[in-house]
Amino acid sequence: MPHATPFPTAPARTAAVAARATDLSKVYGQGETRVVALDSVNVEFGRARFTAIMGPSGSGKSTLMHCMAGLDSISAGSARIGDVELASLGDKQLTRLRRDKIGFIFQAFNLLPTLTALENITLPMAIAGRRPDQDWINRVVETVGLSGRLSHRPAQLSGGQQQRVAVARALAARPEIIFADEPTGNLDSRSGAEVLGFLRESVRAMDQTVVMVTHDPVAAGYADRVVFLADGRIVEELPEPTADAVLDRMRMFETKGRTN
Ligand SMILES: Nc1ncnc2c1ncn2[C@@H]1O[C@H](COP(=O)(O)OP(=O)(O)OP(=O)(O)O)[C@@H](O)[C@H]1O
Ligand SMILES: [Mg+2]
Repeated sequence: MPHATPFPTAPARTAAVAARATDLSKVYGQGETRVVALDSVNVEFGRARFTAIMGPSGSGKSTLMHCMAGLDSISAGSARIGDVELASLGDKQLTRLRRDKIGFIFQAFNLLPTLTALENITLPMAIAGRRPDQDWINRVVETVGLSGRLSHRPAQLSGGQQQRVAVARALAARPEIIFADEPTGNLDSRSGAEVLGFLRESVRAMDQTVVMVTHDPVAAGYADRVVFLADGRIVEELPEPTADAVLDRMRMFETKGRTN
């Protein structure tokens, strides 16, 4: 077991927690339409770690990401980014925290079609009135391999390149944590592998914290750890996952589901 004692001499920063859910519940609707999307979830996302979230459709993966990123309110428990309790923030404070501390990558790239790649990457900072740190932007652009494409508009880029722009946009503001909801869901396997490689590299080279929802065992294999959700609960965790181990685990859940 090569990973039995991970990072025994790692600096304190590596051990720190970037985000944490404590007894987090989310209920949508009421009466007959009531849905418990998250049922008392407890999970920590370590700093400079890459965590994958997996689980069947409707198990609460997107809801967990939205609640942790302050994009949706919670019904009970707590969601914290660093030491900040999201429910304690007013609207303006929450907007600022989202802008400064959180990056979000969606399945659809969500780029503005009339802006160039570089403008898309720096737009959130421009809106925030922050001057981009040019050295950092250069490093991000290089890391995601977009150096030759900065003046292209989204329509002139492949799907993989567009998603790399979205990854660079999330990295540009140096957020505490990046949440990515099926970032490779719309990509072919080669482009998907590129994007996953860049997310992995941002964790390794830049100490970025990444939490990524995926249905794909190969994608989950890029992560340091996989957390499995079912019916709004965390049912399993897999450290140092390989695609084969993830697939085995998914098969196990399916078999259990059928016997129930
Ligand atoms: N805005 C909403 N209003 C009512 N119910 C919702 C809402 N958003 C999600 N739900 C319900 O909450 C549950 C969890 O949904 P969620 O989108 O988190 O699942 P998911 O794991 O991301 O699924 P998928 O893999 O299909 O994206 C589902 O039963 C869903 O129908
Ligand atoms: Mg979802």
